[in-house]
Amino acid sequence: MNARAADAAAVQASAARLRAAGRAPRLALLLGTGWGSFVAQVQQAEAVPYAELPAFAVPGVRGHAGRAVLGRVGPHEVIVLAGRVHAYETDEPVGMNGAIRTLAALGVQALVQTNAAGSLDAALPPGTPMLLADHLNLPQRSPLAGATGTADATAAAAESRFVSMVDAYCPRLRAQARAAAARAGTPLTEGVYAWVLGPQFETPAEIRMLRLLGAQAVGMSTVPETIVARQAGLRVLALSLITNLAAGLGDEPISHARTLAVAQEASTRCVPLLEAVVAALEV
Ligand code: HPA
Repeated sequence: MNARAADAAAVQASAARLRAAGRAPRLALLLGTGWGSFVAQVQQAEAVPYAELPAFAVPGVRGHAGRAVLGRVGPHEVIVLAGRVHAYETDEPVGMNGAIRTLAALGVQALVQTNAAGSLDAALPPGTPMLLADHLNLPQRSPLAGATGTADATAAAAESRFVSMVDAYCPRLRAQARAAAARAGTPLTEGVYAWVLGPQFETPAEIRMLRLLGAQAVGMSTVPETIVARQAGLRVLALSLITNLAAGLGDEPISHARTLAVAQEASTRCVPLLEAVVAALEV
């Protein structure tokens, strides 16, 4: 069996394991750093560890649990992926390919991603959520390059790697999210998210560059998953939780521990916001 056939078989096996839970989720959430406590909002929850899903890579970073939780949020059957593998763990931006293709195989129509990010904009202080309007793929690395870039070995799949990134973050879902946030009394600013490979934080000079390029937030995730999800035909919505002012813009030292601490404090506001947003999405 070649690598792509093995990948496709792992996706089918993972989807079969998740189907055994007897649910039919149309909406998926991928919880990033600081958003993990959202899983407590899932009703009638059934958890499956990533280790039982052959297409899922197990994350190695503190604050990323690595389990899929099936259940209900508001009107939706959902599957919540608690934990992601970051490109900086392997130097390959393909760590979530199998997981996202499994979602598509399950019949999921839309993916809501969350992450933690640094702010490049004084109007977005730590503790604020930001809706992604677009992204900058700074490393110019793609989860669709190489052997795992196509879902299987067919010619059609090989063609499918030329994916449009216009409206990568679905305008309709974004409008529904903004309207839900406004009703909940939490204004939701939109901005451009710059993906950096990390894992080191940026230099102040790099942050000045990102500001010139038009980014409002910077982080180490989300973009590879958006690309694979678009290839797989999923609509994408993504929310950042701003955990710090980016390098050189504030006096506080930047660290992963501080990112987690700010996210923990903000989660009492962000988790209800995410719940309201999810409930309002039409998928
Ligand atoms: N830079 C990159 N990634 C991040 C940051 C940051 O300042 N904060 C949280 N994730």
